[in-house]
Amino acid sequence: MIHSRITGTGGYLPGDPVDNNALIAARGLDSSDEWIAERTGIRARHFAPAGAAASDLALVASQRALESAGCAPNDIDLIVLATSTPDFIFPSTAALLQDKLGITNGAAAFDLQAVCSGFIYALSVADKFIRSGSHKRALVVGAEVFSRILDWRDRGTCVLFGDGAGAIVLEASDTPGIYATALHADGRYRDILAVAGHVCDGQTIGDPFLRMDGQAVFKFAVKVLAEVADEVIRAAGMTADQVDWLVPHQANIRIMQATAKKLRLPVEKCIVTVDRHGNTSAASIPLALDEAVRSGKIGAGDTVLLEGVGGGFTWGAALLKF
Ligand code: UT7
Repeated sequence: MIHSRITGTGGYLPGDPVDNNALIAARGLDSSDEWIAERTGIRARHFAPAGAAASDLALVASQRALESAGCAPNDIDLIVLATSTPDFIFPSTAALLQDKLGITNGAAAFDLQAVCSGFIYALSVADKFIRSGSHKRALVVGAEVFSRILDWRDRGTCVLFGDGAGAIVLEASDTPGIYATALHADGRYRDILAVAGHVCDGQTIGDPFLRMDGQAVFKFAVKVLAEVADEVIRAAGMTADQVDWLVPHQANIRIMQATAKKLRLPVEKCIVTVDRHGNTSAASIPLALDEAVRSGKIGAGDTVLLEGVGGGFTWGAALLKF
């Protein structure tokens, strides 16, 4: 039986951190460091410089993941890139990344759009490709420049998000690897988190900025994250006390604490980067995973639970042995 296993991780945050006070001053916001830190846990985030696109951030994260996996770009035969802030309408950011990495072996490359659940969706898809035997070594990436879709007059959203990219190398293996993944969506909730604009006849039609009903998202997230975590744990025939590390989507520290509590996991087992990264959407989980691996927290053999929730509404989880 073929399994898939993570063999390398990488992350990239552009520029210097921008703390809450610096952001408030730069954008003239009616907000405070206390409000942002207390309600969200966020203290700083990074923003890509003008001209840097999602594929530029993805490139550095991917190079780092390839280096840690000990493989060359042309060893990759599949790129699945999750983003809601692609460089262009087309070609895909995955195809641009393939070119920037110098991959010339014809590896399949495509983008996947599930907003903040994007990395979980991409990981699950790549896992299925590998387990089918069609592909052997995938680069799975989450890359975002959410700063480009923020309305700087909307203090309820613009303080929450940052830019960044995270990547993993996922390889065929005789042993797991990925134990179980679960993906869900409910389009009836499409309006509570959306960028509802589009381009038509050379013009932007509708609202080009991110809009969110924060409280509705919060309640929905806490409910479905606990459910989907339980689902993958049961699918793997395991129990929550066997989970060594929880790597949740980094949106709000209070959502993460609530999820850990529902799973009866001590908060110390929860990897937290939201304080320094803000919410980087599809990049947040691979960035947090990479940081936890490089800092020596997550090590070989650990059982790790990844989970995410985002616009759509979408949500999902993956349980794996690192
Ligand atoms: O990645 C996708 C998933 N996204 C999320 O998980 C986000 C989930 N939602 C949240 O994290 C929280 O709902 C927020 C952090 C977005 C908001 O926190 P909240 O505790 O739900 O606050 P609220 O929206 O109920 O607003 C409370 C007050 C309001 O003022 P009034 O009406 O009570 O006078 C807001 O206008 O806080 C005000 N407010 C702010 N004040 C200072 C909203 N944003 C700010 C701000 N600074 N940046």
